[in-house]
Parts: sequence; C-alpha cells; structure tokens
Amino acid sequence: MYLKNIKVNNFRNYKEESINLIPNINIIYGNNAQGKTNLLESIYFLALAKSHRSLNDKDLIKNEEEGFKVEADAILNNFPKKFEIKIANNRKIYKIDSNYIKSLNEYLSNLKIIIFFPEDLEIIKSSPDVRRRYLNIQISQLNKNYFKTLNEYNKLLKIRNDILKRNLKENYFDKQYFEIITNYLIDKASYIYCIRNKYIEKINDLIGNYYEKISTFKNLKLKYITNLNVDYYEYDNNKKLLRERFDELYQAELKSGVTLIGPQKDDIEFLLDKKNLKNYGSQGQQRMAILSLKLTEIEVFTKESDDTPILLLDDVFSELDDFKKNNLLNIIDDNIQTIITTTDLKNIDNKILEKSNLIKIENGKCITRGE
Ligand SMILES: Nc1ncnc2c1ncn2[C@@H]1O[C@H](COP(=O)(O)OP(=O)(O)OP(=O)(O)O)[C@@H](O)[C@H]1O
Ligand SMILES: [Mg+2]
Repeated sequence: MYLKNIKVNNFRNYKEESINLIPNINIIYGNNAQGKTNLLESIYFLALAKSHRSLNDKDLIKNEEEGFKVEADAILNNFPKKFEIKIANNRKIYKIDSNYIKSLNEYLSNLKIIIFFPEDLEIIKSSPDVRRRYLNIQISQLNKNYFKTLNEYNKLLKIRNDILKRNLKENYFDKQYFEIITNYLIDKASYIYCIRNKYIEKINDLIGNYYEKISTFKNLKLKYITNLNVDYYEYDNNKKLLRERFDELYQAELKSGVTLIGPQKDDIEFLLDKKNLKNYGSQGQQRMAILSLKLTEIEVFTKESDDTPILLLDDVFSELDDFKKNNLLNIIDDNIQTIITTTDLKNIDNKILEKSNLIKIENGKCITRGE
C-alpha cells in the first residue's frame, strides 16, 4: 500500500500543506524543528488515530487553533481509498472515501504502518507496559478482532477490580456478579494470550535472519512472558488454566483488592544467545534488535495482509554507522513506500537520493517538491 499524498490542516506547526508522495522512497529534509517529524506523525495519526509520541491529541492541534485535519489518498491492494481524520470540538471524526465511519474499530487496520524512530530503544529499555502497548498496536493493525477484544477485556478488568476494591473498602461483595465477570474475563484473556503468542511465534520464525543481516550474529529471539508460568497456545487450554489459577487465587485477590493475573501483566524479553538484552545488551545490540524486529514486522505484515505496510523512518540514519545504514536500505524492498526524515542529505547514499522524492521542509511549509 502507499499514500499518493498527505494533506494537513492546523496540524502541529503546519497551517495548510499538501505534499505528493511516490510509492518508493520519499525523503523529508530540513533543519531542526522545522516540521519533519510532525509530517511523519500526521501519517501515523491518519493510520492509527493516535500519535507515536504524544498521549494527548490536543498537543497536535496547531497553537491557538481549535482542531486539525489530516487526509490522504491511498492505494490499498491496487484500489484507491481516501482517508480523513479530523479533530473538531474535542471529537475525533473518521472518514473513508468521504463516508463517516462510526467506530474506531472499523476505521483502524486499513492503513498499516511500521515506524522507526529515535525513541524506539525504549521498547527494550523501558517497563513492560511500553512493550505491551507496542505489541497491542502492532497486532491491532493486523487483527480488528484483537483490538475489539482488548478493549472489552480492559473494561471487564476495570469492573472486576472495582468489585474487588469495593469488597475491601466497604465489605460489599456480590459473588454471583463477580463470577459472571470473571468468566467473561477469562474468555477474552484466553483469546488475547493466543493471538499474542501466535504473533511472537511469527516474529521468531524470521527475526534471527534479520539480526544476522545487520549484525552478523544470529541468535535473537523474543520470549513472551506471562505471569502464569505456562506456555499458552490453545484457546480452550488457556481458559482451563486461567480458571484453575483464578480459583487458587480467590482468597488472595479478595485480600489484595485487585486482579492478580492476566494479559495486563505480560511482558516480552529480547534474548540474544538466551541473555536478556535489557540487562546485558549494549546500546548498539539493542538498536540492532529493534531494527530487526521492525524489518521482521514488515515481512509479517506483508504476508498477513497481502499488501506492504508503509514505512516511516524518523531520523534513524543519524544514529547508524555507514555500514548499517546501507545494509538497512538494501534490506528494505524498493516496493515498500518509505518516508524518511533527515537533517542532512549527506547521511544518505547518492544512489538512493537519485531515485527518491526529495521534500524540503522549512517552518511548517514544503519549499521544494521533488516527485
Ligand atoms: N501544536 C503545535 N503548534 C505549533 N507548533 C508546534 C506544535 N507542536 C510542535 N510545534 C513545533 O513544531 C516544531 C517541531 O517540529 P518537528 O518535531 O517536526 O521538528 P523536526 O523538523 O523533526 O526537527 P528535528 O530535526 O530536530 O527532529 C517545533 O518548532 C515546535 O515548536
Ligand atoms: Mg524530528
């Protein structure tokens, strides 16, 4: 898939801008703080209805404005499709082909994005919730039902925790209702375990090869960690195991006032030769592991959806040495729409520059258009 253009209105430091893109490599260049990352962010937002770097949508509204709009003409599986997201009066409005889309679930997982950005290392370094969030975003792009189930799960978890908390604080406990909620929760959790596990398995089939291509070492694997100490593969089996575990924990949960197990506690480890990169890896090894993960995901996304995702590369070249830079660009297929930001075109090989669409950004305006 690819975008033919991106149009922004009152988004970050852009007043109104429309930029044409080519299906291959597009390079957005310009000095610091001109709006390069903002443009990538607008594409990410159009696809995922959220920002990759800001938790509050309000940050994206141009200063002193009330709302913003991002639009693009895309080609998906060879068919044209128009996407639009607007924030107006504190509401998010989605349109596909000019038709209003009621639910986020229906809007999402059309445009698929893989993004490389400087803060990516946080996926390895940070706390488990960062890794869970990443995993959820990636799987949701491929699987609408996962996104829906995850939302349902989170609602049920909140209700269940409220019941447990109320028992602790007010000594009020409706056991029958608690059991109903627990059963629903087990249902959703089992599905989430299954899908997460399958996704990690798909990654593990490929990630070692990518790691070898950029680093010459091979033994990189992801390990999916649940707090249940069991391998989770089958939906029915998951349900049975969860039921047993909840029965064992019944008294402990009443005492602690919170749900003690479930996918909200999962984690992923990046293992290089069976050692956790979070504690043992050098900065370079961690960076290469993340690059390998993303390259693997390009392949997984392409296979799963019969179409290539769109790649956003934010400033990644400034942090890689020449060897890895060229390796990275050689590994990425020419057929994948890639949108790169850089402060300096010198960071990029001449051969690549010749075939790229060069877009110069200055103070929220596009001042040179290549195409
Ligand atoms: N809501 C907003 N309204 C207006 N301007 C904003 C808003 N949010 C951010 N900006 C401005 O956008 C600019 C930053 O843009 P961006 O992050 O895209 O820079 P960049 O070109 O990627 O720079 P660098 O090369 O340093 O990464 C800053 O000048 C910032 O003040
Ligand atoms: Mg930037």
